[in-house]
Amino acid sequence: MKPQAVKGTHDVLPDEQPLWRHLLAAVELELSRAGARRLTTPVFEYSEVFDKSVGDSADLVVQKEMYSFEDRGGRQLTLRPEFTAGVLRAFIEHGMHTLPRPVKLWSAGPLFRAENVQRGRYRQFHQINLEIVGLPQALADAEAVQLLYRVLHRSGLRRHHVRLGSVGDPQDRAAYNAYLREQLAPKVEALSETSRRRLELNPMRVLDSKADQDQALLVGLKRPIDFLGEGARAHLDEVRGYLDAWGVPYEIDPAIVRGLDYYRRTAFEVHFEGIGAQSALGGGGRYDGLIERLGGPPLPGVGWAVGIERVFDALAQEGVAPVDEDRPALFLVPLDEPAVLEVTRLAIALRDHVRVEHSYQPRNPGKGLKEADRSGAAFAGLRGGSEREQGVLQVKHLASGEQAPVAEGELLRYLLERR
Ligand code: HAM
Repeated sequence: MKPQAVKGTHDVLPDEQPLWRHLLAAVELELSRAGARRLTTPVFEYSEVFDKSVGDSADLVVQKEMYSFEDRGGRQLTLRPEFTAGVLRAFIEHGMHTLPRPVKLWSAGPLFRAENVQRGRYRQFHQINLEIVGLPQALADAEAVQLLYRVLHRSGLRRHHVRLGSVGDPQDRAAYNAYLREQLAPKVEALSETSRRRLELNPMRVLDSKADQDQALLVGLKRPIDFLGEGARAHLDEVRGYLDAWGVPYEIDPAIVRGLDYYRRTAFEVHFEGIGAQSALGGGGRYDGLIERLGGPPLPGVGWAVGIERVFDALAQEGVAPVDEDRPALFLVPLDEPAVLEVTRLAIALRDHVRVEHSYQPRNPGKGLKEADRSGAAFAGLRGGSEREQGVLQVKHLASGEQAPVAEGELLRYLLERR
């Protein structure tokens, strides 16, 4: 059997690397200009970091989606299923609460969830994540949304749209959950199995169901936004006020529900039509109380993550396809045995300035030029006995076929002038 990557994981092939570079460059530019600094945390943490944060009714827990294991020292460890918990663990551990607030931290890398695999849903996937820690004001929530919109725009996306809502304060949430339980309890038989389970653990998540039978039962029922207390409602209005003033487009989603339990008040997602059922490119919200739960000071926070694979899918739909600009400037072809050492020496020297590749054994000119062509190089440089005598290379511009002898010492200038 041919070796295969584990189900739900994938390789990022060399041809796909320009897209990665493109996205990460856009992210780094936007987020660093907004004062965010990059934080890299380990891919695994003590399991309690996630146990304390994601919440008992999160899918990650309910559907046993975490890759947890015991190491040889008997430590319970978990491959990170999201960034937030680990980032906040690092924030606490390194005493970042003493830094001027807000503290903005961004991260990028792989995450692991034992999910049912489908388009846009993988077992190893990648996120770009931003946390803004230390501000209780709605201004921080609005900035988070603005940066999410802006990062995706900078990457080349145009058709993404933000859905903004609020899951309320804990008491609002409890009131809505009680309402939903009461409304749906008499009809529980008609609910899908997943929704029946959710109705017990976290009734709000029934709203997220994609099953028609569930949605039919929800028609006419109130939405979480109808249960917001005064504080949460005013907070949402304030977030809207900033976004309107800045011209950041969004729509209000009265039934926004997030898959993680730690959210309070503001919750948002960014969606893109045309990438399948998993249309959320990203999501986030406010998580006041979480840092304290993880053992840190009582600081509020708000943040988001976008799924890199889904963003790539969306970029492809919009026809954004960055290519690798970095082709070789020169491909050197040794025409005889002594030329092998000569061209390798030349290549090493020229690589101080430009990309240079070469054949690894003597070639005849025809085969050598073909090899040069395949490399994507702009120029081929041939070196054999007669070139050695004259201290030159025959340099051929591969697109036009123009050819000239160029002295070794002139080679770099020749290439740079004709770039
Ligand atoms: P999340 O909604 O679980 O939030 O994930 C954010 C994004 O990651 C999703 O919208 C999706 O694009 C991508 N994603 C999630 N699971 C998968 C998967 N199995 N395969 C491919 N892509 C996936 C969080 O992770 C929160 N920690 C975000 C946050 C940061 N909230 C506050 N700060």
